[in-house]
Amino acid sequence: MAKRTIADLNLKGRKCLIRVDFNVPQGKDGSISDDRRIRAALPTIRHALKEGAAVILVSHLGRPTGDPATDGPFTLAPVATRLGELLGQPVVHASDTVGPDAQAKAAALKPGDVLLLENVRFNKGEKKGDAAFAAALAGLADCYVNDAFGTCHRDEASMVAVPECKSPGDRAIGFLVAKEVEILDKLLGHPAKPMIAVMGGAKVSDKIGVITNLLPKIDALLVGGAMTYTFLKAQGHSTGGSRVEADKLDLARQILEAAGPKLRLPLDHLVSKSLDPTSETMVVEGSDIPDGWIGIDIGPKTIAAYGEAVRNAGTVIWNGPMGKFEDEPFRKGTAGVAAAMAESKGITVVGGGETAEAAELFGVAEKVSHVSTGGGAFLESLEGKTFNSLKVIPDLN
Ligand code: ADP
Ligand code: 3PG
Ligand code: MG
Repeated sequence: MAKRTIADLNLKGRKCLIRVDFNVPQGKDGSISDDRRIRAALPTIRHALKEGAAVILVSHLGRPTGDPATDGPFTLAPVATRLGELLGQPVVHASDTVGPDAQAKAAALKPGDVLLLENVRFNKGEKKGDAAFAAALAGLADCYVNDAFGTCHRDEASMVAVPECKSPGDRAIGFLVAKEVEILDKLLGHPAKPMIAVMGGAKVSDKIGVITNLLPKIDALLVGGAMTYTFLKAQGHSTGGSRVEADKLDLARQILEAAGPKLRLPLDHLVSKSLDPTSETMVVEGSDIPDGWIGIDIGPKTIAAYGEAVRNAGTVIWNGPMGKFEDEPFRKGTAGVAAAMAESKGITVVGGGETAEAAELFGVAEKVSHVSTGGGAFLESLEGKTFNSLKVIPDLN
């Protein structure tokens, strides 16, 4: 059932609190290295402004503990500056979330103004879902919008208790959350066939829930990345110095058995003497990694085979890089899957923190059907979980 969106809210002359996920990656100097999450919230913010609301934005950034002595680097000040540039209008930044500065700045807002509150996790009440904190935050505005897809799997105050302070008619999701949920519903409900999943990344253990939920729905699961070697080890192959989760071998065997021929492992591997990008590499065919070598990327035959499957699929879900793509010598596999995603005529969806970064790096983020702004939220959605943050938003009737 579709949820009420911001388009269903009465906004004229009112103050609208929009929970966004501006938890963006930053360089050591605090500069924003990827502003995708900020750009993704713009349609909702612009709609609220166009309809005559004053906008109050609230977000977390990183994982501060609520201790003023150490929280400083997690300020949203650089985000306020970037948002102002993107919106083309000043964004007022409050130095607290519900304190005197936020109260005064929220009270002074006129229709068309934008205020970004300070990091909501500077308040210990946020993580705890504290009722008094939620009431103070909700009290700054007349209505509430959740456009923070990346945070939808968290039951924090600004995600659940704050909307509960508002009457159901004054709660809605934003356009970003609506789009993410619609795409995920389609993937898990009525996907164009054949549907395949390409999964890689660091650990099998992070992805078990996703694999288990997706297997019955998909036609093939193409495995790459470090998780390959836990599966190969479970099959009795030698894995050299590759990353293997020794305590997950039984689980890997169970997945292999349940999946049968649906689960495809690499046909060849790029192996390296060490994780250092300057170290010696070679291509190994088959399923055994020699002693003294680490499986670091999928090999050329696998890149071709996986690329073909991706290009010919009706729907592709991609989560997890095919190798240690951060280093240039180890990125051909991830770049190859990214290119095939861009060329595929099917519905192509990318999700996961590092996978989304890879899609940007290889220039395909605008060429695939959708790059999710969710990391954990995307994975938990694929696991079939439902979120309290969305349950509190009424269905459209
Ligand atoms: P996502 O955040 O997209 O869900 P993960 O967190 O599961 O992805 O995994 C991403 C990480 O996995 C990357 O940082 C990448 O370097 C690493 N990785 C992938 N394949 C390998 C490999 N063969 N050996 C070591 N690290 C790998
Ligand atoms: C994310 O980056 O996945 C979201 O912003 C949630 O952040 P968290 O894992 O710190 O709750
Ligand atoms: Mg990750």
